[in-house]
Amino acid sequence: MTEKEFIPSPYTKSVSSGKTTYKSPSNIALVKYWGKKKNQIPANPSISFTLSECATVTTLSYIKLDTPSAIFSFNVSLDGKKEEGFKPKIKTFFERVYQYLPFLKDYHFEIETSNSFPHSSGIASSASGMSALALCLMEIERNLNPKMTAEFFNQKASFLARLGSGSAARSIKGSLVQWGEHADIDASSDLYGVEYPHKVHRIFQNYCDTILLVDKGQKQVSSTVGHDLMHGHPFAEQRFNQAHENLSKLQSIFETGDIDEFIGIVESEALTLHAMMMTSRPYFILMKPNTLEIINKIWAFRETSKTHVCFTLDAGANVHVLYPENEKVEVEQFIKDELAQFCQNGQFINDHVGKGAQKIN
Ligand code: PMV
Repeated sequence: MTEKEFIPSPYTKSVSSGKTTYKSPSNIALVKYWGKKKNQIPANPSISFTLSECATVTTLSYIKLDTPSAIFSFNVSLDGKKEEGFKPKIKTFFERVYQYLPFLKDYHFEIETSNSFPHSSGIASSASGMSALALCLMEIERNLNPKMTAEFFNQKASFLARLGSGSAARSIKGSLVQWGEHADIDASSDLYGVEYPHKVHRIFQNYCDTILLVDKGQKQVSSTVGHDLMHGHPFAEQRFNQAHENLSKLQSIFETGDIDEFIGIVESEALTLHAMMMTSRPYFILMKPNTLEIINKIWAFRETSKTHVCFTLDAGANVHVLYPENEKVEVEQFIKDELAQFCQNGQFINDHVGKGAQKIN
C-alpha cells in the first residue's frame, strides 16, 4: 500500500449524523521506535505487545453542517469535562489526516474520551487515544463507503493513528504488532502496523505486564522532542541497524519460546532507548532513583527465584514488569512486597497481553 491508496474515492452514501464508540488499548514496545522521518515515518521498525487493561474509550458524535466549515469544528472532553488543552493536538491530527478523510470539514464533532490510567503518566495514552479516535473516524468513513473491507478498515485506522502518534499505529489489531519495514516480514510497512505473521509460542501469547507508576507527573521530554534528538545523533545509524537485528533475532525466540533470549533483547532495548537520550544533545536522564532501585530488585529476584521476570521502559521513569502467565502468582507477590514501595502512592497496574481495539457501540 502507498499513501495515495488511503485517499478515498467519492463516497457512495450520505450520512447526516451518528455516534460511535471504540475502546482502544495501549501497547508496550519490545523493540523500540525512537527517531522518525517526515510524515511520521519511523526511522526503524518496532514491535509491541498490545495491552488489555490500559485503554482509552472514545465516543465520537457527529452532525452534518449545512455548509462545510472552513475550519475543523469539534469539542473534546475528558472524563465528562471539556478539555481545551487537548484541542491543539487534535487540530494538528485533523490537519494531517484531512486529505485522507475529506469529510472532516462537513461535520461538527463531539469527542468524549476517558482513560483507564492517569493522563501523561508515561503510559502511552497517546497510543490508545489516537487509535481510538482513528477507529471512530474510520467508522464514519465505513458508513459513507459501506463496501470497505475489514482488512482495509484496520489498515487505514492504523495508518491514521500513526499520523496522530507513531506508536498508536500498533494499537489497532493483534496481540503482537509490528510497525515499520523489515526484511523478514513481507507485509510490513512504514505506514501502518501489521499483526506479527510468524509463529508465536504459547508462552508469549498471554504474557503479563505490571506497570509501576514511579513518576506520574507530566513527561520531562515529549515524544516529539525525543524523536527529534535522533536527528544528527552520533549513534543513530548503529541504533537503527540494531533494531532491525533485534527483530530478526526475535523471530526464532518467539517461535521456540526462548524466554532467556527474549529477556536479553527486551531489557537491552529499554536501556538502549534511555542511552540514546543520555547521549543526545541536549541530553536527558529520564529514569528516577526508584527506576534503578526497581531494576536492581528485578535482577536480584530473577536470580534467586529462577523466574523469568524482566523489565522494559518507555521514555519516562515508569517500569513495565514483564513475566509469563505461569509465574504470575510468585511475581505478583514479589511486586507487592518489594516493588510497590518504589511507586508513587504505591500504585501499579496489573495488565496482560490483549487482542486489540474493540467496537463498543
Ligand atoms: O508514539 P510516540 O511518538 O509517543 O513514541 C513513543 C516511543 C516509545 O514509547 C518510547 C517507544 C515505542 O516504540 O513505543
